[in-house]
Amino acid sequence: MSNTTETRFTLKHPELGTGPIPTDIYWKEDFYEKELEAIFRRAWLWAGRVEQVAKPGAFFVKSIPTFDASILITRTSSGAIKAYHNTCQHRGNHVELSSEGNCRVFTCPFHGWSYNLDGELTGVPDSDAFYDLDRSSLSLPEVSVDVWEGFIFINLQESPNETLEEFLGKQGRNLSGYPFEKGKAVFSYEGQIDTNWKCMVDSFTEAYHVPVLHKRSVKDSFCGPNNPHGRLLDVDLSGHHRKISVAGNPEYQPRPVQGLAYRFSPGAAVTSGDGDQSGNQLPENINPTKDPSWVFDIAVFFPNLLLFVGGGMHFLHQIWPLSANNVHWEMRGFLREAQTAAERFGQENSIVELRDAVLEDTNTLERIQIALKRQTIREFIYHDHELALRYNFHTVNRWVQEYEKETP
Ligand code: FES
Ligand SMILES: [Fe+2]
Repeated sequence: MSNTTETRFTLKHPELGTGPIPTDIYWKEDFYEKELEAIFRRAWLWAGRVEQVAKPGAFFVKSIPTFDASILITRTSSGAIKAYHNTCQHRGNHVELSSEGNCRVFTCPFHGWSYNLDGELTGVPDSDAFYDLDRSSLSLPEVSVDVWEGFIFINLQESPNETLEEFLGKQGRNLSGYPFEKGKAVFSYEGQIDTNWKCMVDSFTEAYHVPVLHKRSVKDSFCGPNNPHGRLLDVDLSGHHRKISVAGNPEYQPRPVQGLAYRFSPGAAVTSGDGDQSGNQLPENINPTKDPSWVFDIAVFFPNLLLFVGGGMHFLHQIWPLSANNVHWEMRGFLREAQTAAERFGQENSIVELRDAVLEDTNTLERIQIALKRQTIREFIYHDHELALRYNFHTVNRWVQEYEKETP
């Protein structure tokens, strides 16, 4: 029996109120300009996984579409992970054009200046013809970087206000110990969607829409007679971040092929409705209510990373604003390496089921954005289990107000 019905989450946070939320900040460009400086230039932003830079010389390039920035992340000879702006200090070309690889030096494809793994300028063709060339001042510009549980984060401030550990706070501690390193098989999707970045993040932090919007896809996996309205098991607000716990429908009867897929990839199918079948030992604060119908927690790391942690798989969305009214969206999922062809088939089924549900979400967001811009909706009315959305509104405003106080 699931305990999704009794709790009143919002009343535990009287400071957030229960009234309507004005919609201005979800479409206005002038507010968006503030968000760029106050939030995206100051928060720790997820950039990749340590497996992408497993050995010295391994590198990958992470695009930050919001700032049109290209960040080069590598492991140096001493084993440290470093991040640089991927910008040659001669005339500004990208030093590395490949999205990933392995090398000893990065050589700019324009005139051949080269940089070692520590970002130092080591090679300049025909260097005698330059005047006062001071190599020591021409290293690749370094970007702050740190790692939590194998997730590499960057920060675009020269000296970040908070360490990554302080920034992640309780939510980081709550998820520590999850077997993220087992997710070696990676799948991904990306696209551009005409929506405000907060609307997209928010659409993944409530399940009130699941029985209606997803009626043709995953409704029955999540919403049974026990929980017909997609209520949540838990909502946890902590610091800049928030986490919700989502229940499945234990009475879900899969279709025949689906049933086979679930049987051969236990734990991978977050759409099986069948609770956690992975057998993995999970940290205490994941599924905090210990409900047997629990399927996954959705942890939002402010501002733009959503990390879904299920028993046997985890996946994430990262939402990069391009303006107040559109985003670049990336989804990446992590599964253990399949041991058999049958397991691989089961995993593929899970991936496709997730993809189809996400497309239903994104479609809706574009319609909402038009209504916001036309101002035919001026307030959002939040359900008790849409508390994480209300909290995001308050968190965004708090960051912007703090920034404005510091920069008169
Ligand atoms: S711009 Fe890189 S070598 Fe000239
Ligand atoms: Fe959805």
